[in-house]
Amino acid sequence: MKALIQPHYIALFLFSLFSFPAHSADPNAGASLADNCSGCHGHNGISKTAQWPNLAAQKPGYLVNQLQAFKADQRIDPVMQSMAKSLTTADMNNLAAHFASLPPGKAGDNSQIAKIGQEKAGMCMGCHGKNGLGSAQTPRLAGQHADYLVKQLRNFKNGSRKNSTMKAISSNLSEEDMAQVATFFASVP
Ligand code: HEC
Ligand code: HEC
Repeated sequence: MKALIQPHYIALFLFSLFSFPAHSADPNAGASLADNCSGCHGHNGISKTAQWPNLAAQKPGYLVNQLQAFKADQRIDPVMQSMAKSLTTADMNNLAAHFASLPPGKAGDNSQIAKIGQEKAGMCMGCHGKNGLGSAQTPRLAGQHADYLVKQLRNFKNGSRKNSTMKAISSNLSEEDMAQVATFFASVP
């Protein structure tokens, strides 16, 4: 009887699997590389001040995109541009898997500003997910430092950080709107 699956088909199939680029990231390898990041981004990806964004629980695809953008000098920050130059794509995937696996920072802020911000933030959630928890295509905003979020909104608006979608959106926000929506997203646990 003729075998339905010939051994050489299996060999070809296995070969095709192994010749595929390795997409699987190794969070343990990322954890050791992350020692180089902790001075600014904190030991658990939670930074001490808004000068440095939290990376914990950030979406892995977004983290890789940003590291690629710094490396290619498309996103401008002298420190991060030079940090990213020394990272390979595999390093970036591993770092992203590590940071994405960490629990988000503690938040919580019931101020009036956060409440007003919540009312204005509805239009952000279509892309950034419910309460700004992020999606495969968009970063998590929840639990991020408010002053960091405001800085990025200003950078999109003045064009120093390039992204056509966020340029269009931030152009419609006043300084007051930015402070309010940022305070809301920073307050989401
Ligand atoms: C000396 C301080 C410093 C070190 C060390 C550092 N970073 Fe950063 N990183 C920054 C600053 C500052 C920013 C914010 C840049 C801006 O305002 O656009 C940033 C931004 C980022 C962002 C963008 C986050 C976002 O929400 O868009 C990523 C991703 C990132 N860093 C990853 C890393 C990784 C991975 C390492 C370690 C390999 C690292 N950083 C080491 C200072 C640092
Ligand atoms: C149409 C989809 C869309 C909408 C609506 C949207 N965003 Fe974004 N946002 C994005 C994308 C995509 C990025 C990633 C940009 C990049 O790759 O640099 C982003 C990035 C950001 C960042 C940078 C985060 C970081 O970690 O550096 C901030 C802050 C932000 N958005 C805030 C907002 C706010 C506030 C609103 C509502 C007023 C909003 N966005 C609405 C798509 C959207």
